[in-house]
Amino acid sequence: MSKTIILSNRLPVQLRISEGRIEAIPSVGGLATGMKSVHQDGESLWIGWSGLTREETPGDLEGDIDKALAGHGCLKVSLSREEVDGFYFGFSNRTLWPLFHYFMEYSEFELANWEVYEAVNRKFADAVVEEAGEEDVVWVHDYQLLLVPEMVRQQRPGLSIGFFLHIPFPSFEIFRTLPWRKEILRGLLGADLIGFHTYDYERHFLSSVRRLLGLEVNFNEIHLEGRVAKVDSFPMGIDYKKFREAALRHAAMEEGEESDLQRRLNLHKASTPEAKFFLSIDRLDYTKGIAKRLKAFEYFLQKYPHYREKVRLIILAVPSRSKVPQYRRLKKEIDELVGRINGELSTVSWTPIWYFYRSLEFENLIDLYTSCDIAWLTPIRDGMNLVAKEYIATRTDQSGVLILSEMAGAANELHEALLINPNNFEQIAQALDQAINMPPEEQAARNAPMQKRLERYDVEKWAQDFMDSLLAQKKQDAPYV
Ligand code: UDP
Ligand code: G6P
Repeated sequence: MSKTIILSNRLPVQLRISEGRIEAIPSVGGLATGMKSVHQDGESLWIGWSGLTREETPGDLEGDIDKALAGHGCLKVSLSREEVDGFYFGFSNRTLWPLFHYFMEYSEFELANWEVYEAVNRKFADAVVEEAGEEDVVWVHDYQLLLVPEMVRQQRPGLSIGFFLHIPFPSFEIFRTLPWRKEILRGLLGADLIGFHTYDYERHFLSSVRRLLGLEVNFNEIHLEGRVAKVDSFPMGIDYKKFREAALRHAAMEEGEESDLQRRLNLHKASTPEAKFFLSIDRLDYTKGIAKRLKAFEYFLQKYPHYREKVRLIILAVPSRSKVPQYRRLKKEIDELVGRINGELSTVSWTPIWYFYRSLEFENLIDLYTSCDIAWLTPIRDGMNLVAKEYIATRTDQSGVLILSEMAGAANELHEALLINPNNFEQIAQALDQAINMPPEEQAARNAPMQKRLERYDVEKWAQDFMDSLLAQKKQDAPYV
């Protein structure tokens, strides 16, 4: 029987070793949380990095580690500390991530990191070649593995290879600044199907292919020697049912069954029943606009002082890539901003910002989603933003307001949200005011169509569409191979 091989840097679980015991912790981030649902339901093997470097892996635990991963349908690619530094912290997160999110000034072009990136991509490709049967389908994910499709194709031209990019693909003017731009395009073109979240990212990619490689592009097909690579957009969905059912379970909980977090939220709600909770959940990443959001919150409270003591911003910032200097600096900036704003505006009975720097378990995320009146997400640039979709899915009584940056891929599908430009504080302040005062009927009228859309095009449908399109493409190409 054929299987799907999923390939990504991040596996759905991260391993940690504490006191000689292996712990598997669920990974954070849209790729892992979304693909996990697809992986659980299908016949697939997921190959990726365990989160531990070779130096951190005691030799006598190798077997146990493999067993722990196999329990999750996963297989590891072993990476040394040096490889992780050059490939993950280096080229992936100090070159590609900032560049693809239009943070050109953060992007570093280090030849040594590029070389490690290439070598590690080869390792991932070799792992696929070793595991793949003749009929298997290979699905490669995200910017850490842009060279893998071509590397696999060179060794196994008969395999169906799909690639999906979970972050934006930048415009030609940005992409062209990358010294290894042609190598990256050629790497991707090893795939039969290349998928993006939105039509804009797809267009940017096609324009770079045309202008940098001079290849013939016909609508969304790229003509290569003896075959055609197809490009298309597939906006990633969420596991709608999982979020909705969790929210329904949550609503049906008896007193005493709730979590500590929920109990605390309830206490605050009871003490100030008319107060509104704003919520934001992001990895602590400069693309998410967390610092701007804090400043916009301060602006809002200055412009509308009557909302002081009536609103509270809950920020969940999940630690991420903290070895990269920009992330460390951002952490410091946010700590200081939260301290300053709380210091200046707090009263004896009110702290305007509750700031959590950690990741939370699924049930606690549901506590936050279901308890907060307004979700306020302001990425400066974001491939999709699944948090926005998750918030809407958990609002089973159709209450709640989503304020979302128009720079998030998700804004294309969530038009009924209050869409804002994260740089426009005046517009944001007005949107917050509008959200606070939005009548329940209007909330429902906006949320109902979004829920319907998210239910219809959930993550399973997304994966199925991608797979169907990949297999159709391969069939069309068969005579040439
Ligand atoms: N998330 C999580 N634990 C947390 C906070 C968030 O697992 O403590 C999940 C969240 O539910 C969502 C994902 O992380 O599925 C974030 O995905 P998104 O697309 O919003 O942003 P990304 O981190 O991929 O840039
Ligand atoms: C984004 C990327 C993913 C990545 C995730 C978490 O969603 O598109 O590829 O896995 O962030 O980041 P991390 O660096 O911890 O894997």
